[in-house]
Amino acid sequence: MVYDMLWKAASKKKQSLENMVPSDSLIDLRTVVKRYETPAGPFTALHDADLQIGEAQFVAIVGKSGSGKSTLLNMITGIDRPSEGEVIIGGTPVHTLTEAQMASWRGRELGIVFQFFQLLPTLNVLQNVILPMEFANLYSPREREERALALLNRVGLGDQAAKMPSALSGGQQQRVAIARALANDPPILVADEPTGNLDTRTANTMLDLFGALTSEGKTIVMVTHDNDLAQRADRTFTVADGQVFEELPAITVATEPFDAWAAIPVLEEAAR
Ligand SMILES: Nc1ncnc2c1ncn2[C@@H]1O[C@H](COP(=O)(O)OP(=O)(O)OP(=O)(O)O)[C@@H](O)[C@H]1O
Ligand SMILES: [Mg+2]
Repeated sequence: MVYDMLWKAASKKKQSLENMVPSDSLIDLRTVVKRYETPAGPFTALHDADLQIGEAQFVAIVGKSGSGKSTLLNMITGIDRPSEGEVIIGGTPVHTLTEAQMASWRGRELGIVFQFFQLLPTLNVLQNVILPMEFANLYSPREREERALALLNRVGLGDQAAKMPSALSGGQQQRVAIARALANDPPILVADEPTGNLDTRTANTMLDLFGALTSEGKTIVMVTHDNDLAQRADRTFTVADGQVFEELPAITVATEPFDAWAAIPVLEEAAR
């Protein structure tokens, strides 16, 4: 069954099956360690991180500043490479790809909303959203423009298409970055604080959009500092000092377990 899926995925992407790794999860990080070399010596930003995320899931990543959230996202997107461990996304062992393979894989499979937007300042808003489609050579020039406008409308910025990014507020730029991340209709959206610059109402509108996207089958991994927004995700992971834990819903446990032996005299009394 897993191999069946891999065959289909491999033939669709014109990749050979030998390069694919069987995995039950769309996003599969296996004991990932990330160490940075610093003047003060090696610093471990991720310790044995395991993370398995299935298709069409909306996942929130929370944790204090400096805990390792962006580092974790950089492992998923292949922007940075693990020091140890494996990163398997849709059966592709991302940590083994060359830079060129990585760029082409990323362009097709991932939409990324960066923590600091990273819009190109010399292109207007519409051109920024069109750019990923040009890079991946997807869609006709006319379709690219139509798609970009539709996406800008979806984030409430259809009327800002001709402006330069510098003429937009931080929150508007952030929404352009969300539209750009969706340009190639990727199966996975990875977003680092995509609502950090938005007011509560606009942030909730973006979360509605993410909810709609997961119902359409997309998988979303979102870093947020906002616990209320994290509540809207299907699953939440916390990163603390480079360790990744899943927050599981609280379960109610009976405080006094039923003691059958103690019940016997009571039952005997009742039977008399
Ligand atoms: N290139 C680097 N070289 C050395 N240390 C780094 C590097 N990048 C990140 N770090 C360190 O790794 C740790 C995790 O950083 P990271 O950016 O993942 O944190 P974060 O959880 O995303 O924080 P924030 O909420 O502030 O964005 C921090 O202590 C940071 O200083
Ligand atoms: Mg960060």
